[in-house]
This record gives sequence, C-alpha cells and structure tokens, in this order.
Amino acid sequence: MNHFLLLLLYTLGTSAVLADPNKEEARPSEQPRLSVDSKPSEEPNGQKSEPCSKGCSCIQDDYSLELNVYCSTRNFTQVPSDIPLSTRSLWLDGNLFTNLPAAAFEKLSNLEFLNLQSSLLVSLDGHVFRGLNSLAHLHLERNNIRSLPGIVFQGTPNLASLSLNNNQLSRIDDKLFAGLSHMWLLNLGWNSLSVLPETGFQDLHGLRELVLAGNRLAYLQPQLFQGLSELKELDLTGNYLKVIKANVFLKLPKLQKLYLAQNQIVTVAPRAFVGMKSLRWLDLSKNRLSVLHDETFLGLHSLHVLRLSNNSIGSLRPGTFRDLQYLEELCLCHNQIRALGVRVFEGLGHLEVLNLENNRLQEARMGTFMGLNHLAVIKLTGSCFHSLPDQVFKGLSKLHSIHLDRSCLTKVSAQSFGGLTGLRRLFLQHNNISVLERQSFVELQGLQQLDLRFNRLTSISSHTFYGLKNLDYLLLSGNLLRNLPAEALLPLQHLSWLDLSENRMEFILNATIYILPRLRYLNLKDNVLINLPASIPDTLDQLWLSGNNWKCDCSAKPFRDFILQKPQVVPLQVEMLGEGEEPHTLVTIYNNITCASPLSVFGLDLRNIGSEHFRDC
Ligand SMILES: *[C@@H]1O[C@H](CO)[C@@H](O)[C@H](O)[C@H]1NC(C)=O
Ligand SMILES: *[C@@H]1O[C@H](CO)[C@@H](O)[C@H](O)[C@H]1NC(C)=O
Ligand SMILES: *[C@@H]1O[C@H](CO)[C@@H](O)[C@H](O)[C@H]1NC(C)=O
Ligand SMILES: *[C@@H]1O[C@H](CO)[C@@H](O)[C@H](O)[C@H]1NC(C)=O
Ligand SMILES: *[C@@H]1O[C@H](CO)[C@@H](O)[C@H](O)[C@H]1NC(C)=O
Repeated sequence: MNHFLLLLLYTLGTSAVLADPNKEEARPSEQPRLSVDSKPSEEPNGQKSEPCSKGCSCIQDDYSLELNVYCSTRNFTQVPSDIPLSTRSLWLDGNLFTNLPAAAFEKLSNLEFLNLQSSLLVSLDGHVFRGLNSLAHLHLERNNIRSLPGIVFQGTPNLASLSLNNNQLSRIDDKLFAGLSHMWLLNLGWNSLSVLPETGFQDLHGLRELVLAGNRLAYLQPQLFQGLSELKELDLTGNYLKVIKANVFLKLPKLQKLYLAQNQIVTVAPRAFVGMKSLRWLDLSKNRLSVLHDETFLGLHSLHVLRLSNNSIGSLRPGTFRDLQYLEELCLCHNQIRALGVRVFEGLGHLEVLNLENNRLQEARMGTFMGLNHLAVIKLTGSCFHSLPDQVFKGLSKLHSIHLDRSCLTKVSAQSFGGLTGLRRLFLQHNNISVLERQSFVELQGLQQLDLRFNRLTSISSHTFYGLKNLDYLLLSGNLLRNLPAEALLPLQHLSWLDLSENRMEFILNATIYILPRLRYLNLKDNVLINLPASIPDTLDQLWLSGNNWKCDCSAKPFRDFILQKPQVVPLQVEMLGEGEEPHTLVTIYNNITCASPLSVFGLDLRNIGSEHFRDC
C-alpha cells in the first residue's frame, strides 16, 4: 500500500511540472501510463472520499486535496459517466474511443488536466469539451484525428498546453485557436499540414513554444508568426521549406531556439534573422544551402549555437559570421568547403567549438583561424590537406583538442603545431604520415594524448617526442615500426599508456619498457616479436602479447613464472563492450601467448606448457 502511494505521488509530481511554463524541458507529451488495477481502500488521512468511477483508480493528493482519476488503457469505448465531479486530472489515454460526442465531459467543471492520447480518436464533436472552463492541459496526441471543428476549443478558454502531435491533420481552421491567450505550449508536430492559416496563431499572445516539426509545410506566410511576442522556441524541423524569406521571423524578439533542420532550404534571404535579439540556437542542418550571403546572420547578437551541417556549402566569405560575437559552437560539417581563406571566422571571439569535419578541405592559410581567441576544439576530420600550412593554428592559445584524423596528411612539420602550449589532445590517426620532422611536437608541453594510429611511420627518432613531458597516452598502432629506441621515449616521463600493436616490431628492449616510470598499459599485439621480456616493471598492469612469434625456450621461463604468478597483468582474455553496430554486445579479446618455436611446443600457449619443458633451464 505504501509503495503504491509513493508511486502515485511520484507520478503526480511529474504532472505538476506541466503547470510551470518556465521549466525548460516541460513538454507534457510523454505522460507515464499507469496500469494499476487496485483502488486505494481508504484515504490516507482517513477522510471519506467520493466513490470512484467504475474500473478507474482515484487518488486524492495529500496536500492539495485534488482528485486525480486514472482510467488509462481500460478498453473504454465511451467516457465513463460516473467520474467524480471534483476531478482535477483525468487520465483516459490508451482507450478505444474513435469519436467523442458533444458535452462528453460537461459536468467536470473543475477539470484542469485531461489526457486522451493514443485513444484511436478519429473525430471530435465541435462541442465535446463544452463546460471545461478550467481545463489547462489537454493531450490529444497519437490519435488519428484528420480534422478538428473550428469551434472545438471555444469551451476551453483557459487552455495552457495543447498537444495535437502525431495525428493526421491536413488543415487547420482559421479560428481554431481563437481567444486562447493563456496558451504557452502548442504542439502540432508530425501531422500532414501543408499550409497554415495565415492569421491562425494571432491570438496566442502568451505562446512560448510552438512545434510544427514533421509536417509538409512548404511556405511560411509573412503574417504567420506575428503576434507571438512571447515565443521562445519554434520547431520547424522536417518540413518542405525551400526558402526562408526576410519577413517571416521579424516579430519574434524573445525567440531563443529556432529549428529549421531537415527541410529543403536552398536560400536564406539576407537579413532573414534581423530583430531576433534573443536567439541562442539556430539549426539549419540537413538542408540544401550552397551559399551563405554575408548578411545572412546579421543581427544575431545572442546566438550561441549555429548548426549548418549536411548542406552543400562550397565556400565561406570573409565576414559571414561577423555579428556572432557570442557564438560558442559552429558546425559546418558535411559540406563541400574546399578552401578556407583568411578572415572567414572573423568576429567569433567566443567560439569554443569549430566543427569542419568531412568537407574535404584542401586549403587553409595562416590567418584562417585568427581571432578565435576562445577556441577549445577544432574538428578537421576528413579534410584532405597534403601538408598542413605552417603555423595555421597560431594564436589559438585556448585550443585543447585538434582533430586531424583522416586528413590525407603525409608529414608533420616542425612548424605545424607551434605555440600550442595548452593543447591536450591531438588526433592524427588514419593519415599517411611517414615523416615526423624533428621536434614537431616540441612546444606541446601540455599534450596528454597523441593519436598516431594507422599511419605509415617506419621509425621514430630520438628527437620526435621532445617536449612531450606531460604525455599520458601514446597510440602508435597500425604503423610500420620495426623498433622503438629507448631514447625516443625518454622525454615521456609521464606516459602511462603505450599502444604499439599492429606494427613490425622485431624486438623490444628491456630498456624501452623500463625507461617509462609510469607505464601501466603496454600493447604489443600483432608484431613479429620473438623474445618475451625477461621481467616487467611493477607499474605495469596490462600487457598484451598475442599475434607474435614467441620463442618459448629457456629464455621464456622467467616470464612464464611471472604470468603464472600474476595472471591479471597478462590476462588470457578480456570481455569488452563492443563498438560499432551493436554497441552493447560483449566481445572477447584474446591475449594468447602462442609459441612459434621451438617445434616441440609450436602452437601451444606459453601458459599451458608443462613445467617439464623447462626442467633443464
Ligand atoms: C483490453 O483488450 C485487450 C484485447 O482484447 C485485452 O488483452 C486486455 O486485457 C484488455 N484490457 C483490459 C484492461 O480489459
Ligand atoms: C550528414 O550526412 C552524412 C553523410 O550523408 C551522414 O553520415 C551524417 O550522419 C549526417 N550528419 C548529420 C548530423 O545529419
Ligand atoms: C594513403 O596513400 C595511399 C597511396 O599512396 C592511398 O591509396 C590512400 O588512400 C591514402 N590514405 C589516406 C588515409 O590518405
Ligand atoms: C631490465 O631493466 C631493469 C631496470 O633497469 C632491471 O632491473 C632488470 O634487471 C632488467 N632486466 C633484464 C632481464 O635485463
Ligand atoms: C586464443 O585462445 C583461445 C582459447 O583460449 C582460442 O579459442 C582462440 O582461437 C585463440 N586465438 C588465437 C588467435 O590463437
């Protein structure tokens, strides 16, 4: 009984959220479904309650004394006639109504919350909500409603939130929302609307959030959003818009978030967003933009996030973003920008994340990123720089991550990363780097992670890693290294993770392992190593050795004794969460120490060779 009450109090707590329009994520479309059959036998405080509707559960709130009636998923085909008159919240979702007649709730004049979602509704009588003077929250989403009588909300003048999403509305009567000046949330998403009545929203003076996503809107009339002076969030994602004209968003001074992704927008008129003083978030991704006019973003002085990914933008003009002095995140990924000239990012003094992934960028210049004084992350993955311009990142003193993987690089020159003393992570994997010039990384004193996997490095010189005194992770997997001289690792006194798998290493010297005082993880898988280490440092807690040509003679005995003592350091296998398609499947990673010689133990795992094999050692 106590648990039951707690559960209900908890769910009531979530419905109370609905009343607060200031609460950011308050979108009341996903109400929890209750499927409790039992009725509370007694009021908690001993009061006598009105009889509950047959087949429903009634709960009176301990504090507010409001009555909530739960009739979800009861297979009702009609609204029960015995619902207590004092009911404040009524849950009728998941029933089988098809249509509702006039005055279906007439006597429930105290009702504030009514949930009719997922109830197979196709049509509503124009007077169905007659008498619901107090109704504030109405859920009609996930039905099959094709049209609504123009007068249907005349009986509910105090509506604050209305969810009509996921129906089949193809048109809306001009007067449908007339007089609903208390409404703050209107969700019309995922219907089949191709046109909206031009003055249909004009009475919604209090509206804060309007969802029109997932419809077929191809055109927005100039008057459509006028009067929505309180609107904070407008979602037009996934429509058929082709052009954004300059007069549509003119009178939306409080709008903070505008979603225009997944349309077919080819053109955004110059000055289209002028006057949107409060806009913080603008999403134009997955459209067909090929050109940005240099006045496109004029006036967006509060913009924090601008998403332009998955368009066909071919180049950027200097000054395009000059008004966006508070922009923190700019995403231009998956476009067709080949070259970045100087001053293209001018004015973006607060930018923290610049995403230019997958543009096949070939050209950038020394001044390209100038002025990005707060830039922390730059993503250039999928570019095609053959060589990186010298000092291209110069002056970016706050930069802490550079993503240059899959970027056709063939060498790293001594000037590429000059001056980046605060850089922490440098991603250079999946290039064709065969040359690391002497002291290429010398100024990267703060670098913690260097990823050079899958390149064409054949050797590392003793000067390569100069300066990397804080490096923690060094990933060299998938190169052509034959050896790694201890001197090359000498600067890396902080290194704890070294991945040398999938190289051509023939030997690994005792000194190479011991020169790194903090080494915890060493991966030597898939090389051509023969001799097992004679001893390994105490710091090491994982060593990977499979896929080599181990010689299991007397020289291997000390090592064998070691792993039989400390099997956790050289685990036979480890279960890991897989990456890729099925992210939650466990994959087994083996760490076999398969002997290649002598012949008598060929193919056996060192751990499984009996001690008689080492008897004469
Ligand atoms: C509703 O009808 C379905 C199908 O006939 C049935 O499985 C389910 O138990 C019924 N639910 C209630 C609450 O009667
Ligand atoms: C952009 O398009 C690419 C390739 O078509 C796709 O893989 C990627 O998921 C898309 N990204 C976004 C953010 O839509
Ligand atoms: C590396 O170079 C080879 C041939 O020179 C080319 O086929 C391959 O695509 C290049 N790989 C990358 C990641 O640039
Ligand atoms: C490897 O080097 C360490 C530290 O210099 C030393 O203690 C250990 O005996 C060496 N092991 C072999 C087999 O040379
Ligand atoms: C590693 O050993 C396991 C058994 O422990 C075996 O199933 C697996 O085939 C071996 N893998 C290789 C590459 O030898």
